[in-house]
Amino acid sequence: MRGFASDNYAGIHPEVMEAIAAANAGHEPAYGDDAVTARLQERLRAELGSHAEGFVVFNGTGANVVAMRALLRPWEGVICAETAHVNVDEAGAPERIGGTKLLTVATPHGKLTPELCAPRIDRMDDVHAVRPGMISVTNSTELGTVYAPDELRALADFAHGHGLVLHVDGARLANAAAALDVGLRAITTDAGVDVLTLGGTKAGLMGAEAVVTLRPELADGVDRIRKQSMQLASKMRFLSAQLEALLSADLWRRTAGHANAMARRLADAVAGTPGLRLAHPVEANALFPVLPAGVAAELQSRWPFYTWDEATGVQRWMCSWDTTEQDVDAFAADVTATCQAAVAATA
Ligand SMILES: Cc1ncc(COP(=O)(O)O)c(C=O)c1O
Repeated sequence: MRGFASDNYAGIHPEVMEAIAAANAGHEPAYGDDAVTARLQERLRAELGSHAEGFVVFNGTGANVVAMRALLRPWEGVICAETAHVNVDEAGAPERIGGTKLLTVATPHGKLTPELCAPRIDRMDDVHAVRPGMISVTNSTELGTVYAPDELRALADFAHGHGLVLHVDGARLANAAAALDVGLRAITTDAGVDVLTLGGTKAGLMGAEAVVTLRPELADGVDRIRKQSMQLASKMRFLSAQLEALLSADLWRRTAGHANAMARRLADAVAGTPGLRLAHPVEANALFPVLPAGVAAELQSRWPFYTWDEATGVQRWMCSWDTTEQDVDAFAADVTATCQAAVAATA
């Protein structure tokens, strides 16, 4: 089955498999006291700066919840986009497990700005109100758009000016950095980000992410919160090996850059197709098309992809590290022919 449903549908990159196999030698201390995890910490510091401290976890929802639990006090909330994964795709885990309230904001194309956050900075000293303690942005966003370093810097300055921290949900951080042709540090540490959910699964790992604190004073207690949150892996070396591979030999840039390039190829191939329009700019590895009536269902009988919003008819086509040019070209030809037929039938 080849399709455009999710970058999670893709398999594991061979270099990651090799790294897991290489870690599978003899006994190693458990719970992160192993040599592979120590090497990963060094890689993280080389990539993100000397104050970076990584806490490896099993998945992205867990990373987001651990970051929130670790950095927020019980009465503090999180400003995020309405479309944020933490708000719409984590089954309420930030609220239920994290114990925090999400303070959502309507955004164009999934991106927050200081101006959009400003109305949420109210009643800071009112004992009856939830006080914002964090701004959480996703990069690349759930709608396939990308925050540039200066946009993140503006959000960090705004957050810090009001005593908040800036969290980046980087489930697709690699896609953002590859799209901008910058290093991971430029859109995290150097942009004033305080805490990061470093994604890896969508970039070709079997399943490993990390909470990364970027200022030393923020790391205190994160290890205990991770344990309480059931995200502490006993055989951590096999998760760390994946993340080490991701950060070695530019694997993140190669996998995410390829996925982005395939999305661009698909966007170019379907440009001008009758009845097709894109709801959001294509800046990373996803397209959000609106199609003529009936076309999505017909295509979905041949190609897996998600209807993103039933109400608006927006679909999502997601490219992965292993999407091929042949996949894209065959799908684009089918999209074009199916749209043309649908438009002709209604003419
Ligand atoms: C933006 C974003 N954040 C976080 C996640 C992590 O989710 P999971 O808990 O499935 O690893 C995802 C996965 O789809 C995502 O798209």
